[in-house]
Amino acid sequence: MAFCLTEKQKQARAILNGPAKFILLYGGSRSGKTFVEVRNIIIRTMGEAKSRHGIFRQTRKDLKESIWLDTYPKVLDLCAAGINPKNNESELYSVFNNKSEIWFGFLDDKKHSDNVLGKEYNTIFFNEVSEISYKMFSKALTRLALKNGLRNKVYCDCNPPGTWHWAYKLFIEKINPETDEPLANPEDYAVLNMNPIDNLANLPEDYIKTLEGLPEEERNRFLLGIWQEGVSGGIYTKEIALAEQEGRICEVAHNPEFPVYPIFDIGIGDETSIIFAQFAGQRINLIDFYEASNEGSDHYVSVMRQREKDCGYKYANIFFPHDGRNREWITGTNRRQAIESKGFRVSVLPASPVEDGINAVKMLFGQIWFDKARCKGLLEALRNYHYEQDPIKLIRSKTPAHDWSSHASDALRYTAMAYNSKIARPLPKEQAPLNPAAAIKFSDLLVRNKRRRYAE
Ligand SMILES: Nc1ncnc2c1ncn2[C@@H]1O[C@H](COP(=O)(O)OP(=O)(O)OP(=O)(O)O)[C@@H](O)[C@H]1O
Ligand SMILES: [Mg+2]
Repeated sequence: MAFCLTEKQKQARAILNGPAKFILLYGGSRSGKTFVEVRNIIIRTMGEAKSRHGIFRQTRKDLKESIWLDTYPKVLDLCAAGINPKNNESELYSVFNNKSEIWFGFLDDKKHSDNVLGKEYNTIFFNEVSEISYKMFSKALTRLALKNGLRNKVYCDCNPPGTWHWAYKLFIEKINPETDEPLANPEDYAVLNMNPIDNLANLPEDYIKTLEGLPEEERNRFLLGIWQEGVSGGIYTKEIALAEQEGRICEVAHNPEFPVYPIFDIGIGDETSIIFAQFAGQRINLIDFYEASNEGSDHYVSVMRQREKDCGYKYANIFFPHDGRNREWITGTNRRQAIESKGFRVSVLPASPVEDGINAVKMLFGQIWFDKARCKGLLEALRNYHYEQDPIKLIRSKTPAHDWSSHASDALRYTAMAYNSKIARPLPKEQAPLNPAAAIKFSDLLVRNKRRRYAE
């Protein structure tokens, strides 16, 4: 069958080749977004010798299944028949006859992403940009630095996650997601909405009907490509909306009468998240949040010590997830020992199914207060924490999507476990007053905690 672009893809092509440097194609599933972007990258690759282009996605599995083994060979076959670039299967790159390269990168693996981001590119395509953190997006952009006859470009696509997402701020509202300031060069950013109805020629006959049968929020996202207030499949969407309505996302000051519990989710190769919590009677005050990747224990120790100095935090136990007993972030020693050797006391939480942790968070959510400014990153992650929707099989995953938002969200699961543990809640719940001022003092807590040892 002769190949042709859909009318919508022709509009997309004009934007991809137009004056804007950053382009986002957003919309429903199976709309032909990724196809037209990959096609454009192949044309740029063939048009400029020794050029280099990157196609990045968050996870290896998604990159391999949907791009490397699916869209890329399909586009080559349909639009560049006879051009047979040499593929390197283990490192995931393709070399063309003119010595141009396309590198396929998954960003949630440190070794692989370091390798991919150690190069310079003419084009970077962030496939399903909703899964990628703004931090990683910004880091990757520093690699858009190859100088030759091409104008360097950034392509992005996604099924719109929600109006709170950084991609909405950047591309639709044209504000800097970190500072909320208007962009200096808004004309550099362009978007196009593409939906499955625009790609009927290339879809199974009953596909639109299937999408019409989805629940409303998923229909909005995958059929109509609408940016919604929440995320479809959002795990804490209702709880966060309620927290907002009830004014629990506000300024939450550190209360020096109470200890601070740093609660870790530990990642190797990806984010380590720390929630700084105070348990004031029935109130769970999340006063601070920190996230970093590829750092060793010394880094996190200095983050905690700095806050001790600057903000007056007095630490009680640090909580680690059950894998906190395992090897240290960088050096390979025991993480718990590494932190304890710096004068901290570590409690390791028992292993527990993710679903149980999510239920525990939901049960406690009405008691949680968030410091709006210091927990901005945590709130963004919680808003994004969701069950995955397979756009082809149209089923939801049983476990939450593993992306940039899952580490901070895991840290909240551990916060709920820590709160429910005996060590962090020295008084039985019914005795614990709601008014923080009347609740147990830090000094009392230390005395009590001395007598307790948390069962690991
Ligand atoms: N011009 C075309 N000719 C032939 N097939 C096409 C064309 N455009 C898209 N397709 C096919 O349509 C299907 C959907 O395209 P694509 O994967 O690009 O959609 P998408 O918008 O990226 O979807 P999703 O949001 O689910 O990632 C794929 O099977 C793709 O190969
Ligand atoms: Mg796609």
